[in-house]
Amino acid sequence: MKKINNLFIIDHPLVKRDVSILRDKRTPNHLFRTVMSRIAGMMAFEVTKNFSVDTFDLNTPLEKTTGYKLHDEIVIVPILRAGLGMVEGFLNVLPEARVGHVGLYRDEETLEPVDYYSKFPSTLSKSLVLLIDPMLATGGSAKAALSFMKSKGANNIRMVSLVASPAGVQIVAKNHPDVPIYCAVVDRGLNSKGYILPGLGDAGDRVFGTES
Ligand code: PRP
Ligand code: URA
Repeated sequence: MKKINNLFIIDHPLVKRDVSILRDKRTPNHLFRTVMSRIAGMMAFEVTKNFSVDTFDLNTPLEKTTGYKLHDEIVIVPILRAGLGMVEGFLNVLPEARVGHVGLYRDEETLEPVDYYSKFPSTLSKSLVLLIDPMLATGGSAKAALSFMKSKGANNIRMVSLVASPAGVQIVAKNHPDVPIYCAVVDRGLNSKGYILPGLGDAGDRVFGTES
């Protein structure tokens, strides 16, 4: 994993291979979903690397030993819709986590995020929160979601994306310097419609098969 200021790039060979499957326009929706979930699970390993653990006494069938449990309560918050594609991968390794939701879509003309739904567990303010969304493009959705979660009490947040643009990373870093960003790759830029290049296209559409 590479670290550049607040940005962590998870450039593991298995993650790189899987990002290539997602990038390939021939990848069908069912495989896209499977692979996104698999990458999310691998990223979860790196994102949780420095989580604190508490110890406790436990008995194996043979003798007493020390057990470990996560110190913090965890809340996973996908940005709808595309973030849903990463939830299962995270829950596979963090089954004790609660799940909140933030519903945002980008207005196709202005590229500004429009919010339509949110629901968080009551434990948000005392939890370690993982905001997940495969695409960090202009950064507008992430910036809005982070501000919204903070207004609801979240104060210990990590952002996890698969593919980021340099502009998106900059916007989040500037507006939310307290939030580390984890991604698999930072791509070269954005096109005039705010799509990441080379990117992987519209992640929500490819997860749910709603491409036109
Ligand atoms: C996508 C993606 C992010 C957002 C990123 O969602 O999942 O939430 O775009 O773009 P930004 O960084 O420029 O804000 P989209 O608006 O396409 O909604 P969807 O997931 O429902 O398809
Ligand atoms: N949202 C996506 O799904 N893909 C992009 O490239 C940019 C925003």
